[in-house]
Amino acid sequence: MTARVAIVGAGHVGIVYAGGLAKLGHTVTVVDIDAQRIELLRRGQLWFHEPGLPELVHSALAAGRLSFTTSYGEALDGAMFVFVCVPTPTTADGSLDDSMLRSAFQKIRSVATDPPPLLVNKSTVPVGTGNVAAELFGADGLRVVSNPEFLAEGRAVHDFFHPSRIVLGARRSEDADAVASLFQGIDAPIVRTDNTTAEFSKLASNAFLATKISFANAIGVLAEAVHADTAAVGQVLSLDPRIGEGHMRAGLGFGGSCLPKDVAAVEHMASKHDAHPELFAAVSRINSGQRRRVVDFLIERFGAVADKRIAILGIAFKPDTDDTRESPGALLADELLALHADVRAHDPVARPRLSSGRELKMCRTATEAVRDVDAVIIATEWPEYGRIDLRAVRAAMREPVLIDGRGVISREAAEAAGLEYFSLAASKP
Ligand code: UGA
Repeated sequence: MTARVAIVGAGHVGIVYAGGLAKLGHTVTVVDIDAQRIELLRRGQLWFHEPGLPELVHSALAAGRLSFTTSYGEALDGAMFVFVCVPTPTTADGSLDDSMLRSAFQKIRSVATDPPPLLVNKSTVPVGTGNVAAELFGADGLRVVSNPEFLAEGRAVHDFFHPSRIVLGARRSEDADAVASLFQGIDAPIVRTDNTTAEFSKLASNAFLATKISFANAIGVLAEAVHADTAAVGQVLSLDPRIGEGHMRAGLGFGGSCLPKDVAAVEHMASKHDAHPELFAAVSRINSGQRRRVVDFLIERFGAVADKRIAILGIAFKPDTDDTRESPGALLADELLALHADVRAHDPVARPRLSSGRELKMCRTATEAVRDVDAVIIATEWPEYGRIDLRAVRAAMREPVLIDGRGVISREAAEAAGLEYFSLAASKP
C-alpha cells in the first residue's frame, strides 16, 4: 500500500521520515512555518550534517515523491496520514515545552480534510499528550497514533531503515495497523500499546541510555581511585548480554538535544509523582561532573586557567553531526572562557553557538588549534582525532597536557610522544 503523507516540521526527524517514507514508495509533503528552510529544501539543500540524508532527499525529489511547502492546507490536501515532528524543548523547571506541538495540532485541525487524516505523533511529548489530542480532535473525527522516534543523529538514515523496534500507541487497533502498513518492507518488532505507554516508553528509553552513560562515568571515577583498569572493567561489563555494550563508554558525558532534556523531564515527572527523582538528578549531576573534572584537573595542573591557552578538539555533541546543542565540548569551552582561559577549538563540521553568547575562536584545522597551547582536550571522538600525529601535536604545543575526553588515544602513544596524558574515559587499548 502506498499513501499520501503530510509531515509537520522540517527538522532532523521530519526530513529523515520524509526521505525514508518516500523511499518506501509513499508520496510525502513536508510543511514548516520557516519559509527559508522550505526554500532550501525545495532546492535539495540541507542546513545540517546527516550522513546519507542529502542523497535520500535528492532521490525522493527526483522521483517526484517529495515536496515542501509552508501551507498546511497544501500539505494536508488528500493526505491519509499527518506525521507531527516538531521540537519539544525543555523549560526552566525541566518539563517539556509542548507549545509548538499544540500550535501544530491547532493548525492541522483548522485545515483537516474529509476524510480526516490519521495523526501520527513522533515528537517526544509530555506523557498524556496523545490522549489530550485525541479529546481535542475527537469531534472532528481525527485519531491519534503515538509513534515515538528512536533515531540517533549521525546514523538517522540507517536507523529509519533498520529500527530496533516500532512503537505504536493507539486507542483503536485499526489505527495502529494503518500506520504499521506504512512501514511495510522494514523488518522490526512492532510493539502495540496505548498512547500514554508509547509516549512514556520513549522518555524512559532515553532516561535509561543517559543512566547507563552516567553509570559508566561513575564507575570510571571509582576505577581510577582504586587503580583498576577502566577499559578492562568496561569490557567485562559489556560482555554480559544483560548489560550490553551500547552507551557504556565513559568520557566527557552525554549531550545533544534529547538525552539531557529527557532526563530532566523524567526527573520532573518523578518529583511530581514522588517516584525516585534522586536517581535522575544523580544522572544529570554525574554528567556535568565530568566537565567539572576536566576544569579541576586543569586548575590543579596550572594553578589557575586564566590566560592559559587551551584547544578543544570537537564541538559537535558526538561524531557525524554538526549539532552543538548541549554539547559537552561547547559547554566546556563556555566554562573555561568564563574562567578567562584563552580557548580555541576545531571541529570538522560543527560551528558553535555558545549559550552564553561568548565568542569561541574556531580554527580551520586541528593542527592550527593546538599551536602554542598549554593543553589540548579531545571532546568528540571524530576519527581524525584518534589518528592525530601526537609528536607533531607535542612539538606545536607550549605545555604538554593532553586530556582525552573520549578515549581515542592510547596512554602509551601519548606518553611516548612526550605528552602528559589525562583520560576521562578508558584509554584506547
Ligand atoms: C538519542 C537516542 O540514542 C535516540 O535513540 C533517540 O531517538 C534520540 O536521542 C532522540 O530522542 O531523538 P542522540 O541524541 O542522537 O540520540 O545521541 P546518542 O547517540 O544517544 O548520544 C548522546 C550523547 O551521549 C552524545 O553526546 C554521546 O557522545 C554520548 N555518549 C554516547 C557517551 O558519552 N557514551 C556512550 O557510550 C554513548
